[in-house]
Amino acid sequence: MSKPDILAVAKLHPFYQKHLESVYTVHDRTHDTDPDAFAQLAPRIVGVAANGESRVSRELLARLPNAKVVSVFGVGYDGVDVAAAIETGKLVGHTPDVLTDDVADLAMGLVLSIGRNIPLADGFVRQGQWAQGPFRLSKKVSGSRMGIVGLGRIGKAIARRVEGFGMSIAYTARSEKAGSGYRYYPSAKDLAANVDFLVVITPGGAGTRHLINGEVLQALGPKGFLINVARGSVVDEQALLQALQSGTIAGAALDVYTNEPHVPEAFWKLENVVLTPHMASATHETRQAMADLAFANMQAGTKGHPLRTPVPECADLNPRG
Ligand code: NAP
Ligand code: 8YV
Repeated sequence: MSKPDILAVAKLHPFYQKHLESVYTVHDRTHDTDPDAFAQLAPRIVGVAANGESRVSRELLARLPNAKVVSVFGVGYDGVDVAAAIETGKLVGHTPDVLTDDVADLAMGLVLSIGRNIPLADGFVRQGQWAQGPFRLSKKVSGSRMGIVGLGRIGKAIARRVEGFGMSIAYTARSEKAGSGYRYYPSAKDLAANVDFLVVITPGGAGTRHLINGEVLQALGPKGFLINVARGSVVDEQALLQALQSGTIAGAALDVYTNEPHVPEAFWKLENVVLTPHMASATHETRQAMADLAFANMQAGTKGHPLRTPVPECADLNPRG
């Protein structure tokens, strides 16, 4: 018997791909590469496999009448038109929680890397500069002021780590979190004006586009550092570049960018930035857990069973187990 067909809308992680291939025939981006073949294939597609950064448009979803699920390998699903998925009878699943610790760990790594200049210091030793004199002084992290933009699953995990550094913690989110014990600022600008490190960890998409703009960077000020582990779209990248070049802020550490995997070369040349390649959840352990969960969601969705982790907009539509 032939395996059911699913469409992969991005190059999938090998762990997810391997799981899927055990049960399905996976069509890798056929909609982009071979429109004629896709026209034949589309009615047979029962599920869509995506990454956190994938775009799954209304137009594509409308062409897949028998797909029952979009299973995202990632917690962020800002590229998926969830309203269109629901209208066309598809549930959307994602992979929350299993990656929270890794993303929070990397956020702290970036705070330390940019605050203490760790990558520059590494270059200093490797390039034999130590013998000519000591390395520059850096910013003390312990005891300083942390601001978190987005106090959700990952934001809270970052806050727990920050507590260990004896830092004060403040945050902004759409609503105040009663009982968090952290100071709430209703706007990113007010938060930025009162912290040394501003870590961004909201979802991407229209609701957060350029939430961190020139004004927020101005408020963060010449001694402040920006860390973005959310989505490139949340930060106005041109405003950030200008702020870094002009000394409006002290520095930035970035894991995500506007047009991945392309990082503007102007950033490469700056000493006051640390750049990582969207790797916050990229450990063996977590990528396996994400693959297991995304696969479980795909199997459940294609069988009409409840998804393990539907996105919030689909929670009420998830069949009862
Ligand atoms: P979550 O639990 O849904 O938390 C999101 C937080 O963002 C919530 O506190 C929410 O506020 C806040 N938020 C949403 N819109 C906002 C706005 N306009 N202004 C201020 N705050 C806003 O999600 P999570 O699991 O922590 O994940 C967060 C995001 O991290 C993901 O969506 C993804 O984009 C990103 N991420 C990146 C990587 C990476 O590799 N770099 C890995 C995983 C995740 P309320 O609580 O008030 O609603
Ligand atoms: C992944 C992510 O890098 O979960 C997310 O939202 O951005 C990351 O965990 C991505 O989804 C895999 O492509």
